[in-house]
Amino acid sequence: MQYQWYPGHMAKAKRMMQEDMKLIDVVIELVDARIPLSSKNPEIDSLASNKSRVILLNKNDMADQRYTNAWKEYFEAKGYFVALVNSKNGNGVKQVKDVVYKACEAKIERDRKKGIINRPVRAMVVGIPNVGKSTFINSFVGKASTKTGNKPGVTKGKQWIRLNKNIELLDTPGILWPKFEDQKVGLRLAMIGSIKDTIINTTDLSLEIIVFISKYYPEAITKRYEIKITDTITDLRSAAVALGEIALKRSCLLKGGEPDIDRAALMLLDDFRNVRLGNITLEFPEIQKKIKEEQKSTDTIIKDQLV
Ligand code: G4P
Repeated sequence: MQYQWYPGHMAKAKRMMQEDMKLIDVVIELVDARIPLSSKNPEIDSLASNKSRVILLNKNDMADQRYTNAWKEYFEAKGYFVALVNSKNGNGVKQVKDVVYKACEAKIERDRKKGIINRPVRAMVVGIPNVGKSTFINSFVGKASTKTGNKPGVTKGKQWIRLNKNIELLDTPGILWPKFEDQKVGLRLAMIGSIKDTIINTTDLSLEIIVFISKYYPEAITKRYEIKITDTITDLRSAAVALGEIALKRSCLLKGGEPDIDRAALMLLDDFRNVRLGNITLEFPEIQKKIKEEQKSTDTIIKDQLV
């Protein structure tokens, strides 16, 4: 699903979120493992200030595993409970129940001291559009759970899904709006296809992808398209030269035999978004010294990029 966000939409989404927050104990926040920060709206922190927090690095299957593990550590260091999931095929989804329960342990203990025993924790899923909320909920809920319907004392119309004796989930996810103020955030969201391609220039976008990939995954493009790149790609101009070569190689040609750059750009975009250029992560965590030192002995790419 693609959205255009206007102030009215944001205000409504925020209002709904504030209402739902009153009903729950724990927020399960989905982010895209390829762009964990750009796919995260920081306003959720104030909206969910007194709630237990779980972050799911979703679309784990599309990201570069090495950085996903680094992102997990990054968020854990900030106090979140974190799980890596592929909601599409269900990998990692099962363990989320344990992570949610763990995130609520302190609250369960407080309840127990007050004599409240066996009350299930209540959770809701939140995230920006297209991050995989519906896919995750379907996979998480599975077939075994039951809808509990309206509950006395709970806002009318809210449906809760009982996952097991310990956890109930609000059946509709909270929609967060993307944070577009930083241009790089918008660019990364566009790269992964979370902003409608009709409102951006897909050729420019492809060139940006080529520049990024050439820097961090130097072999991905030459390998996929079997082209030789003589000059290092450092800017949009050299990326355009490479895209011309890709067009020729793939017979994306205009009538006179000239390379059809725009068509080649769309092809590259599609290849990138369907992981045909490999598992690529677009942003890297600022990692603590400790982790950096652990990484020293591993792959040089990791060493160079985690700053
Ligand atoms: P939303 O509710 O947050 O808006 O997202 P939604 O579940 O609709 O998912 C958006 C797209 O992301 C869907 O693809 C969905 O299949 C895909 N997706 C969700 N989670 C994962 C994941 O962990 N891995 C991968 N590879 N894809 C995931 P689509 O192309 O819009 O639909 P479809 O072609 O799958 O039907």
